Amino acid sequence: MNYWHQQSPRLFVLGFIGLLLVVLIAACGSRDESQSGAILDGRQAGAVTVPAPDAADDDVVDAARDQPAPMPGEEPPSLSAATETTAGAELPSASTVSADASLDTQLRTLIQQQGLTGDPSIGRELPSIDDPVAQLGKLLFFTKALGGDKDSACVTCHAPNLGGGDDLSLPIGVGADNPDLLGPGRTHPSGHPTVPRNAPTTFNIAMWDQAIFHDGRIESLGKTPGADGADGKGIRTPEVPLGVADPNASENLVAAQSRFPLTSPEEMRGFQFEAGAGAQAARDHLAARLGDYGAGIGELANPAWLAEFERGFGHTATPERIITEQYIAEAIGRYERSQVFVDNAWKAYVQGDDNALSESAKRGALLFFSPYEEGGTNCAVCHSGDFFTDEQYHVQAIPQVGPGKGDGPDGSDDFGRFRETGQFVDLYAFRTPTLLNVEETGPWGHDGAYTTLEGIVRHHLNPARAVASYDFSQLDPSIQTEHTVENTAKALAQLESNRTMGLLTVQDVELTDGQVADLIAFLRSLTDPCVTSEKCLAPWMLGGDDPDPDGLLLRMVVAP
Ligand code: HEC
Ligand code: HEC
Repeated sequence: MNYWHQQSPRLFVLGFIGLLLVVLIAACGSRDESQSGAILDGRQAGAVTVPAPDAADDDVVDAARDQPAPMPGEEPPSLSAATETTAGAELPSASTVSADASLDTQLRTLIQQQGLTGDPSIGRELPSIDDPVAQLGKLLFFTKALGGDKDSACVTCHAPNLGGGDDLSLPIGVGADNPDLLGPGRTHPSGHPTVPRNAPTTFNIAMWDQAIFHDGRIESLGKTPGADGADGKGIRTPEVPLGVADPNASENLVAAQSRFPLTSPEEMRGFQFEAGAGAQAARDHLAARLGDYGAGIGELANPAWLAEFERGFGHTATPERIITEQYIAEAIGRYERSQVFVDNAWKAYVQGDDNALSESAKRGALLFFSPYEEGGTNCAVCHSGDFFTDEQYHVQAIPQVGPGKGDGPDGSDDFGRFRETGQFVDLYAFRTPTLLNVEETGPWGHDGAYTTLEGIVRHHLNPARAVASYDFSQLDPSIQTEHTVENTAKALAQLESNRTMGLLTVQDVELTDGQVADLIAFLRSLTDPCVTSEKCLAPWMLGGDDPDPDGLLLRMVVAP
């Protein structure tokens, strides 16, 4: 409890600074206000606000304003107007049109206020999948030769045809019964998943500017918008203390991250490979294996990586010089950063096509972007901007399923961001995920506790109620749930405590089933059709004419 005495003044000061900043930023008319506010304000509720509509010269919105303000639990009249008028068959068609126009007008006002462009890739330097380094990266992403025991690859948990993830609540990396079987049906001899967190999508991974991983443990120190960590200010990794630049981190967040699965025993390294040696020794050994030099000589049957690295980087060199762990990271990062899938119906709508969204998706969008006071669900306060994330950490008390990260009295818990910062307010806080392609990136939550979009959406509307009525039967029976009830209760208590402190949290809100369906329709409009098309995804997948430099490229099998 001493903690409160230490923290309260600090939070107060941060909040004050945050408010000042918001005022300043608002005065400058910056489009980035929710993001930059969030970075500096220590997640104070007051500092991150969705601006109230300011549409004095807009008749339609004015008309909507004349209606009584909705109370929480009541269906907000402006948001349901479209349904009601459409249902009223005796109304002349003109009012149906104007009701729809009102929906568009309200939405376009919010889009303008929040400075949305519909496209988070604008202004970024992103590689094409045709880039030779990205092509090399693809082969590296698919090879099991980067697994210590040659049985796990990046694609094991991040398959483009599985939404950039693995379609599982929790992954199985090394030691799987069938290493090439991905997705549902992948099993481990222990009978349980071996990795404690859900594998996030690698799609659009280049859009993160602050941090990656659920707890942000790969973190840009500069956090420059649009830079993906490549702003020259350094990248912090788990191999250095918080706030310090890792001299070995690669050029951007994505490449920096790719060095870490290689050294995680459960994900790729295995438990025998370079046992007892440090992470760097393991990485160097893997590079030597691919290059067939030093410690790695003879570990691959017919190693042909040198030609691939020379083709990729465009010059000849000795294997020792060109097949290094740093070049491997750069190439894998380039491949991942080419996975840009942002062409969705929502973008088309934001960019002017009124017909790109269904009425239901429009109503859902209006809920999503409107603050609670206006009958909305305030989602955009955290899922902000064109990438639908503030890149900050919040407590949601998603049921804590799985083996845990070794936290808590029996090691079954996962303390989230707290593991990195040691700050009490970060207990059980996880990074706000992007919602682009969210329909395809399930199961949802940091541990995949929800296997339906409806489940995760309803959780946000009332976490305590969702936890109390959580349906364990949605989980694969292999998932560890012995400690879920007590660990989740602690996360909920933390959520309540953060609410009491005035930190940014979800508030309880009652929606009709129709409104929940509207929110989901909106979320579905964030899917780029490319990610569900085998043909469109083909450049990111292995093809028949791709070389196999080591006979270990993972040719994916799905369960019968
Ligand atoms: C056994 C499954 C598994 C394998 C293999 C694996 N990953 Fe992951 N990956 C995960 C999990 C789980 C997380 C989330 C971990 C966390 O946040 O603590 C993750 C996180 C990531 C992230 C961060 C995503 C985000 O939104 O923050 C990237 C990028 C990524 N992995 C790329 C890779 C690459 C590149 C490789 C190969 C070098 C790889 N992964 C191998 C399971 C895996
Ligand atoms: C207070 C900040 C906040 C608000 C407000 C918020 N979210 Fe979230 N959302 C998060 C965080 C943090 C997570 C990840 C939680 C975790 O994994 O433990 C998340 C996760 C999600 C996910 C799962 C994504 C995935 O890939 O697993 C969906 C879907 C989602 N939110 C939708 C919504 C919707 C819809 C709303 C409005 C009803 C909303 N969120 C409001 C912070 C927020």
